[in-house]
Amino acid sequence: MTEIKKIGVVGAGTMGHGIAQVFALAGHEIVMIERTEECLSSAKDRIKQSLARIVLKKKIKEEEASDVLKRISGSIRIEDLKDVDLIIEAVYEDEALKRGIFSRLDSMVKEGAILASNTSSISITRLASSTKRPENVIGMHFMNPVPIMKLVEIIRGMATSDITFNMIRDLCVRIGKSPVEAKDYPGFIVNRILVPMVNEAVYALMEGIGSPDAIDSAMTLGANHPMGPLALADLVGLDICLAVLEVLHRDLGDPKYRPCPLLRKYVEAGYLGKKTGRGFYEYR
Ligand code: CAA
Repeated sequence: MTEIKKIGVVGAGTMGHGIAQVFALAGHEIVMIERTEECLSSAKDRIKQSLARIVLKKKIKEEEASDVLKRISGSIRIEDLKDVDLIIEAVYEDEALKRGIFSRLDSMVKEGAILASNTSSISITRLASSTKRPENVIGMHFMNPVPIMKLVEIIRGMATSDITFNMIRDLCVRIGKSPVEAKDYPGFIVNRILVPMVNEAVYALMEGIGSPDAIDSAMTLGANHPMGPLALADLVGLDICLAVLEVLHRDLGDPKYRPCPLLRKYVEAGYLGKKTGRGFYEYR
């Protein structure tokens, strides 16, 4: 394969729909895969809302936004990815689930197609080992909200080829992102640093050092962060933060990464942040 044209995105949730959008905006034809028609239509609605914001800011015209939507198709059949050049997996942060998807994709996509994962912490080398094409497997870790955040962490697995790496790096630049290479190490760069900070903020809340508002204001006003760590956890998803911490804790074996019991409690209660309408804050 010499050029990446058609792209598949498996999982069109918080990250997947944003990934589909940025590639479609850059002119690529996209196939989004979800488990149900309802999930697909919710992803399309979110893309429409995001495009509407971009139109409102006069960054693109209304006709361009409708062309972007035309370039995105959806399906509940993973087999519909047979002819794509690159697949970006963006399903829930569960290694067994991701491995199953990689193995299935490997058996059906065309020779030379690249399989990428948007995992926020799981080893790319381990995911690649569930395929017979580890040289074509790579990590592409986008940040939330995908249409706004410039960074894509690119992670080589042990066997990722230079050709695959260079193609993905160039592709990221072409769609207006800024790629940074990170080693295949738990949490890569951003989550290794960011998620322990979120965890510490939840400890501060649990220990009564401050209210959610006080903790977030302290970090926005005192450290110039664009949003406080608890609001950020709500944006990212408390379940995702917990999953990343569990990987850091297990794979690095250092007790400093132990997830805060209060974070676990919120997740058990189903208070996962913005996506469920309640996390450290309530959303209507
Ligand atoms: N689609 C399109 N445009 C969007 C958008 C979306 N989903 N979300 C925000 N925007 C646009 C707005 O229209 C606005 O555009 P202009 O600058 O042209 O006016 C701009 O983005 C800023 O948005 P807002 O004014 O609504 O809000 P804000 O100024 O408070 O910024 C934010 C919102 C961009 C989310 C900002 O608070 C921020 O940068 N927060 C930190 C986000 C972050 O750290 N993300 C990384 C999380 S870690 C991760 O994702 C990795 C992981 O694996 C867990």
